[in-house]
Amino acid sequence: MLANYKILTVTHKHTKLREIGDFVIKAADNSALRERLEALKAGFQLDELLYLPTCNRVMYFFTTARPLDAQFVSGFFQSVNPELPATTLNQAEDVVQCLEGEAALEHLLEVSASIDSLVIGERQILRQLREAFDQCWEWGLAGNFIRLAYQQAVVAAKAVYSNTRIGEKPVSVVSLAVQKLLNSGLNKDARILIIGAGQTNQLVGKFLVKHAFTNITVFNRTLAKAEQLADMLDGKALSLDALPAFTEGFDCLIVCTGATRAVVTPELYTQLLQGETGRKVVIDLSVPHNVSEEVVENNDINYIEIEGLRHLAKANHAFREQEIEEAKNILREYLQEFPALLKQRQLEIAMRRVPTEIKAVRHKAVNEVFRKEVEMLDGQTRELMERMLAYMEKKCIGIPMKAAREAVMTRK
Ligand SMILES: NC(=O)c1ccc[n+]([C@@H]2O[C@H](COP(=O)([O-])OP(=O)(O)OC[C@H]3O[C@@H](n4cnc5c(N)ncnc54)[C@H](OP(=O)(O)O)[C@@H]3O)[C@@H](O)[C@H]2O)c1
Repeated sequence: MLANYKILTVTHKHTKLREIGDFVIKAADNSALRERLEALKAGFQLDELLYLPTCNRVMYFFTTARPLDAQFVSGFFQSVNPELPATTLNQAEDVVQCLEGEAALEHLLEVSASIDSLVIGERQILRQLREAFDQCWEWGLAGNFIRLAYQQAVVAAKAVYSNTRIGEKPVSVVSLAVQKLLNSGLNKDARILIIGAGQTNQLVGKFLVKHAFTNITVFNRTLAKAEQLADMLDGKALSLDALPAFTEGFDCLIVCTGATRAVVTPELYTQLLQGETGRKVVIDLSVPHNVSEEVVENNDINYIEIEGLRHLAKANHAFREQEIEEAKNILREYLQEFPALLKQRQLEIAMRRVPTEIKAVRHKAVNEVFRKEVEMLDGQTRELMERMLAYMEKKCIGIPMKAAREAVMTRK
C-alpha cells in the first residue's frame, strides 16, 4: 500500500511562481473546483485525492496503483489545464516532481514542516494543508489512507516546530512583501486599495495597522468579510462589484484573492488610475497572479510579487539552514514509523468484517444449526444461553483485533 501513495507537484524550487499557475485547477468557485477534482479522481483511477494549491506550490497527493509514467503525467496535467501549451506539457518532467511511496510521504512531511517552503519555517502552510484536507475530506475525495498520512505529517511538523528553531523570528511571504512596501517610501496617508479579504490580506492588514497606514479601502466578493477587515483597518469596505466604478484614485493596490483568472485587467486598471500618471505600488501575492501581465508591462509600477521576494527569502533561509538538518532527522523518525501505522490501519479495515461475521455465526447457530434443541429449552435456560452467547460474541470480537494490534507493534 505504501507504494500507492503518489505526488505530482510543481513548486518554487523548479519553476517561476508565475508558471505554477498553469498547473493549478482554474475554477470559478468551489462547486466547479469540486467537479473538476471529482473528474480527475475518476478519470485517472485515483482511490483518494488531496489537492493543495499554495503561494509557492501546487500539490496533487493521491493513492493509486497506476504508475506515474510520462503518459500519466502529461494526460493528468492536460486534464488539469486544457489550455496548457503543448511545449510545456512535453517538457513537464522539467518542472513536475513525480514522487511515489516513501519519497511521496517524505515530501509531504517536508512540506508540512515548512522546510520545502520558499520562506523556510513559515507556518501558514500547516493551516493551508489543514484547510485543503478538510475540504477534500468533506467532498469525499480524501479517505482513510490520505487521512493517515496527513495526520502523521501534522504531528511530525509540530514536532519540528517545537524541537528546532526553524520557526524562530517568524517571517512569511506577507511580512517580506510588507518589508518591500515600506521600502517603497509610501506615505502613511497614501490611498491604499486592498482587493480580497482572505487570510493573506488579513495578515497584510495587521502589518498595515502596525505601521499606521490610515487611508485604506477594502474590496471583496463577500461584503461582510470586506467590512470585517475594514473595521480592523479603520477603513472603508466595498463589494468587489463596486471596483470598476471606484473613482477616488489610489497610490497602492494590494491584490490577493483565490481567483484563478486575473482580477485586475488592463481596462480595470486604467479606470482605477483615473488619469493619474504617477508611479504606483502594486502588490500581488496571489498564485495564479491576479494582476494581468499587461498591466505590469504597460504601466509605471513598483511591482511587488512573490517571485521578487526570493532574495529576501534566501537571506531568511541562511539563518534557518542549520535547523533544516535537525528538522530532517525528526521527520525521518516519523517517516520510519509510518509503515507500521499503515499496516495497523489496513488490519483495522480488514477486521471491520469480524463483528458482522461473528454476529452472523451466532444467529445461524441459534436459528438454524441448533434451532430444534433451542426450541426445547425452558425460558430460564434460554435466557442464560443468550447471555453466554452475547458474552462470547463480545470477547471473540476483541481477540483478533488485539492479536492484530500486537502483531503490528512487535514488527515496529
Ligand atoms: N496564505 C498564505 O500564506 C499566502 C501567502 C501568499 C500568497 N497566498 C495566495 O493568496 C491567495 C489567497 O489565499 P488566502 O489564503 O488569502 O485565501 P482565503 O483565505 O481562502 O481567501 C480567499 C479570498 O479570495 C476571494 N476569492 C476567492 N475566489 C474568488 C474569485 N473567484 N473572485 C474574486 N474573489 C475571490 C475570497 O472572497 P470571499 O470572501 O468572497 O470568499 C477571499 O477574499 C492564493 O492565491 C494563495 O496562494 C497565500
